[in-house]
Amino acid sequence: MSLLRVENLSIQFGGVRAIQNLAFTIQAGTIHSIIGPNGAGKTTLLNMITGVYRPTTGTIHLNGRPVTGRRPHELARLGLSRTFQNLQIMKTMTALDNVMVGRHLHLNRNLAACLLRLPTITRGDRAARQHCTALMERVGLGDYIHAEANAMPYGALKRLEIARALASEPKLLLLDEPAAGLNATETSEIDAVIAEIARSGVTVILVEHDMKLVMGISDHILVLDYGRKLAEGTPEEVRANPDVIAAYLGAA
Ligand SMILES: Nc1ncnc2c1ncn2[C@@H]1O[C@H](COP(=O)(O)OP(=O)(O)O)[C@@H](O)[C@H]1O
Ligand SMILES: [Mg+2]
Repeated sequence: MSLLRVENLSIQFGGVRAIQNLAFTIQAGTIHSIIGPNGAGKTTLLNMITGVYRPTTGTIHLNGRPVTGRRPHELARLGLSRTFQNLQIMKTMTALDNVMVGRHLHLNRNLAACLLRLPTITRGDRAARQHCTALMERVGLGDYIHAEANAMPYGALKRLEIARALASEPKLLLLDEPAAGLNATETSEIDAVIAEIARSGVTVILVEHDMKLVMGISDHILVLDYGRKLAEGTPEEVRANPDVIAAYLGAA
């Protein structure tokens, strides 16, 4: 059974048909990239999958159950987590505290226990801190644990967002242009981080413009053009597809 199944998906903003009659499936344990020119509908698609936008038509199934129209926090509980095209980092907090924000699903606390500062809370906090510290080390940010986010380079902030997204222990991780604005060294660091995440068993949806990264890392690629599916397949199939060459790769 596929992890994610999208059928007949469309969304319209006023006169703009951002996604039109889109269907695809994603198998668990794969890296599934979504590519296409600016305005093709990639971020809009992620927003529908994560419950930020409600589709105008169509259905989304996660692990065989219908989740169309579910709110983002419900989908987070079902195992979805994401990063954003524009960084959503709290700049005046420490790096570790930013990752801790992503851990709140696992912090089992209630108001009374918080007010009384019962030992279960501090134990839970300590465990969460340890977990998030380990996540930061995993994405290569061991030197920045207590740094203020303000003081971190852009490439490190992109990996900090990934660490925060991992803190909820997702089954499906959606990355919106994780390599945008990065230099070659930073891009290869992100490449290694994404590959390691996939090896750990997390399914990845990757929206990205860097074709070297996409072609090297993806199991499957979906090409969008003006909200429609232009092509899909393995990197080799997509690279050889005449429609893709004409509409997208050829123009690059
Ligand atoms: N909230 C919104 N309101 C109106 N139009 C939107 C909204 N979100 C996206 N769009 C439009 O949908 C189209 C696809 O945008 P987007 O998904 O951001 O493309 P991509 O991520 O592929 O660059 C664009 O024409 C964009 O202007
Ligand atoms: Mg986008």
